[in-house]
Amino acid sequence: MAHKIAVIAGDGIGVEVTAVALDVVRAAGVAIETVDFDLGGARYLRTGDILPDAELDQLRTFDAIVGGAIGTPEVPPGVLERGLLLKMRFALDLYINLRPFKAPKSQYNDGVDFMVVRENTEGTYAGEGGLLRQGTSHEIATQGSVNTRMGVERCVRYAFDLAQSRDRKHLTLVHKTNVLTFAGDLWQRTFNEVAAEYADVATAYNHVDAACIYMVQDPARYDVIVTDNLFGDILTDLAGAISGGIGRAASANMNMARTAPSFFEPVHGSAPDIAGKGIADPRAAVFSAVMMLEFLGENDAAQRIRSAVAATDDFSGSTEQIGAAIRGALQDL
Ligand code: NAI
Ligand code: MG
Repeated sequence: MAHKIAVIAGDGIGVEVTAVALDVVRAAGVAIETVDFDLGGARYLRTGDILPDAELDQLRTFDAIVGGAIGTPEVPPGVLERGLLLKMRFALDLYINLRPFKAPKSQYNDGVDFMVVRENTEGTYAGEGGLLRQGTSHEIATQGSVNTRMGVERCVRYAFDLAQSRDRKHLTLVHKTNVLTFAGDLWQRTFNEVAAEYADVATAYNHVDAACIYMVQDPARYDVIVTDNLFGDILTDLAGAISGGIGRAASANMNMARTAPSFFEPVHGSAPDIAGKGIADPRAAVFSAVMMLEFLGENDAAQRIRSAVAATDDFSGSTEQIGAAIRGALQDL
């Protein structure tokens, strides 16, 4: 049976890299049935729609969702992030944001091979807060951090499971427990309690500011990192920068309870500066599609695509040429 995949290619290079990623999946012999959803900056500018509820309900009927990137320079910041990306994360309960990072040993570091598990539905991104006395000299803005025991625990448990499945079996909690004492206490206590159930997983704790230093100076220390929404957002950009760059960084927004489809997208945006030139690196989109295949249980195809991308690692060329090289390497495997 073909997997039913909803495609939100989006704007700019999102459209270019998503086409390549889906071609690679098909070339690996995975049967997929795709339906395109016209969502993103272009649609918003044309019709004013961001993510109508009817389309959100339609998205629920798919096995998975593949995204390119959304955003155009004409749309003010926040409109699509809150109205589309965050709305999807909350409505589909995509509570795990998983981002893998891998880079060979270089002059600069001893190699990178770690994954960041970012809580994806709570924290400062939950939308608690507001503006009072807006526009006056007494204006007040609050943006609360929402942390529930349920939300923290399901994220921490996922991270322990993931760490247990890996060779090193090492998990680092990243937070700022010394200053964010309420949220930090809930995270640390939950982490410690769950850790007791995973005797074979070694644990560590880093404050987020220290983690930024270690990630640059000694990234090899990390195996799996678990952290909250905001810290995870920032830390994964840093992780991308030390491990092959934005053209390779993939991400999965997952509902591990599988009560709704999960959403797989590259970390990068729509890159208006290079959109339309056909020069975007499609590897981040391909890796995101690989994460989708793993989520759907297509482990053999996922592994073959990983090998094909590795075999063409040094190849540079246009978006389409890189796609063709990966498809070629798949045939040769
Ligand atoms: P960006 O990731 O689009 O671009 C940053 C820089 O990286 C640019 O110089 C771009 O050319 C380069 N770059 C990005 N992806 C690349 C690729 N695959 N190959 C080669 N070079 C690549 O971030 P930026 O410029 O901050 O945002 C552009 C638009 O994308 C904005 O509208 C923003 O809101 C949106 N955005 C959307 C995201 C999403 O849909 N999840 C995530 C990040 C940004
Ligand atoms: Mg980000």
